[in-house]
Formats: sequence, structure tokens, C-alpha cells
Amino acid sequence: MTANGNFQLLSESYLFAEVGRRVARFRGRHPEAEVIRMDIGDVTLPIIFPVAEAIRKATDKMSDRKSFQGYGPEQGYGFLREAIADNDYKVRGIGISPDEIFISDGAKCDIANLTDLFGADTVVGIPDPVYPVYVDSNVMAGRTVENGKIVYIKCNPDEDYRPQIPDRKVDVVYLCSPNNPTGSVLGRDELKAWVDYALANEAVIIFDSAYEAFVRDSGLPRSIYEIEGARKVAVEIRSFSKTAGFTGLRCGYTVVPRELTVSFPDGSGVELRKLWLRRQTTKFNGASYVIQRGAEAVYSPEGMEDVRRNIDYYLRNASILKEAFGKMGFATTGGVNSPYVWVRDPEGRSSWDIFDLLLETYNISTTPGVGFGSAGEGCVRLTGFNSYENTLTAIRRLEGLQK
Ligand code: MLT
Repeated sequence: MTANGNFQLLSESYLFAEVGRRVARFRGRHPEAEVIRMDIGDVTLPIIFPVAEAIRKATDKMSDRKSFQGYGPEQGYGFLREAIADNDYKVRGIGISPDEIFISDGAKCDIANLTDLFGADTVVGIPDPVYPVYVDSNVMAGRTVENGKIVYIKCNPDEDYRPQIPDRKVDVVYLCSPNNPTGSVLGRDELKAWVDYALANEAVIIFDSAYEAFVRDSGLPRSIYEIEGARKVAVEIRSFSKTAGFTGLRCGYTVVPRELTVSFPDGSGVELRKLWLRRQTTKFNGASYVIQRGAEAVYSPEGMEDVRRNIDYYLRNASILKEAFGKMGFATTGGVNSPYVWVRDPEGRSSWDIFDLLLETYNISTTPGVGFGSAGEGCVRLTGFNSYENTLTAIRRLEGLQK
């Protein structure tokens, strides 16, 4: 077999695998060091009680011959799709029907798998810096900057890295708000400008809102469907990972509205939803029943209260990190309405140099900004997902660091 040559165009390791490898190598050399992980956005608070209880009950059900069930629906169980439609959309005045919701084992897989639906000529617009899965999954499918199939969307550091609408047509636009890695959040007018762009250019927006639950400012949109016209152009992806601590349990979902249609090469129109359903039923057997019961419990009254408390906890960590770096004289973005704090070094050190400095001198691991795109050079990302105690310890350790 000849391997997919597109892999030769990727860096050897995925960003977080590379960070993990360097941290492990450092720990090997310094077993005494107590490294505080502020690199990958992995949660540290345990699963909330209502979720754990629902998973236990579902497991009992699966171990009883009378209630055991095998394969579930590829699109996800109706009980979870209905809970999402009601609690994530209907209560906010957004009409999304359960059959427009597809449950999966996480947002990352959905984001990457959506490239299966893009035609050979599709040109994708990807902000820089941004979550590396957007670029890597498109490169795997043969799209590159060199062949003109990837267009980078500029993000201005002086405007909190907000993506700027390109002056040319692209077919697919990736937007992430609250943004990973910069933590900036798109306002209603900005999102409307993107929806208008997509409508005018027959483009599809892949809206990654994995961090929407961190938005506390009621003036900011949490769903792209709050914007008129978005049902015709936008796919929205959400995750239980950061919201409800499912990074290890795995569950997320993608919304593909019925009005979103695209064209085949022969010019005939088709609902994107039907293509996604065809793709999922072929390549995916559904998220596990037990985990979907756990996700359903996130929407119970106790579940929603516990989730809110946990998110408050992470937001407090992010905000004290932001404040500490601000006091040290670094420019920061995020840390409010977002679990991420994006730190820019005015001295112009490279991202990997700052990463090394923070790891070697202060035993704090971060994610180098350049791993999110070349515009992230000179920055690092820290997360609010560690414990409050570790966050305070990290801040104390950093007191010696000046810009
Ligand atoms: C991150 O740190 O950017 C995320 O944890 C990665 C992910 O969600 O896949």
C-alpha cells in the first residue's frame, strides 16, 4: 500500500501530543519537580453526582437481561436529543428540532469528520491562530495553503484576535467562539456579519461552540442560531467535555439544520443534514447508551446547578491567571467568558522559548501559541482547568517572572 502522502505535510505529532511528550521528558529528567499542567484543556473536577448516578443506573440496566440493549441509533438516543433541543435551544428561543441534532463521542471527532462532506474543490477559510484540528484534518484530506484550498483568516491581536472577514469567497469558514486558544468571544454584530458573508457567498460556517457554557455576559451570543439566517448556513458543534467534565467519558453533538443545503458537482441540491446522516450511519455506531444517559442528567435541575458551579470554579481560575499576567506586564486575551488565557510576550521571545522557560524555571506547562498557527508565535495559552490551589501555586511561582 502507498500511504496517504498528505500526512507528510503535517508536523510529526499533534500539538497536544508534542506538548505531552516534552512534559514527560522534563519529568523524566526532573522527577522531583511538581509540574502544574496548564497546557491541554483537560478538566480536573470529578463527574457531578447526577451524571455519575445516571451512568450507574444505565450500567445496571445493561447488565440485566430484561433491559439490556445492543446497538443504539447512530444519530443518538431520542431522550438526549430532546433534552438538548429543549434545554440548549428552546429555552433560549431557538427552534432546533431533535432530528437536526447528532450525538457523537466528542466535538473533535465531529469537526474532523465533517471534512468527509466537502467536495474536492472546496476552499476552507481557517482563522490563525485556532484549534489545530481544523487545519490538520483538512491537510489530511489534501487541502493546503500551497494548493489554494486553505485560506488563512487574519485575526488582529489588537482587536482580541477577532477573525476578519476575507475579501474573497471561501466555501467553508471555521469559527470558534469562545475561541480556542485566544479566549475571545464574538459579539452578536460580528457573528451576524459572518452569517451575512456566508449567505452572500453560499458558504457553510462550521461553528465550534465547545466553550459556550463559559459565556457569562448575557449580551454575548452562545449559539450561532441566535443570528437570523444562520439556519441556512451554519453547522454548530458542542461538547459535554468542558461543560460537564466529559473529556474522559466522551460525548458531544452537532446540529445540522434542515434549511442548510449544498450542491453536488452536477448542480443538484441536497440537505447537508442528509449527507451527515449518511456519513454517520456508515462510519459511526453511535455514542454509548450509558454515556448518553449520563449526558442527559446534565440537564436535570441538580445537573444544571452543579455544572454552573463547576464552570464558575474554572472561570475564577482563568480570571486570576489573567490578572496575574496583567500585573506582570503581559498583554492577555481571554480569561473572561472563557477558560483560556492567552498571553503575549512583548519581548518577542518565541512560543517554544516561553514554554521552555515556564516549564524549566517555574515547572508550569503551557501550550505554545505557535502550535495554533503562525500568528500565535510569541504567545502561550494557559488554562483555568487545573485546581484552584494549583492555580494559586502557579501564580506564586510566577511572581519572579517579569516581561
Ligand atoms: C485544548 O486544550 O485545546 C483541548 O482540550 C483540546 C480538545 O478539546 O481536543
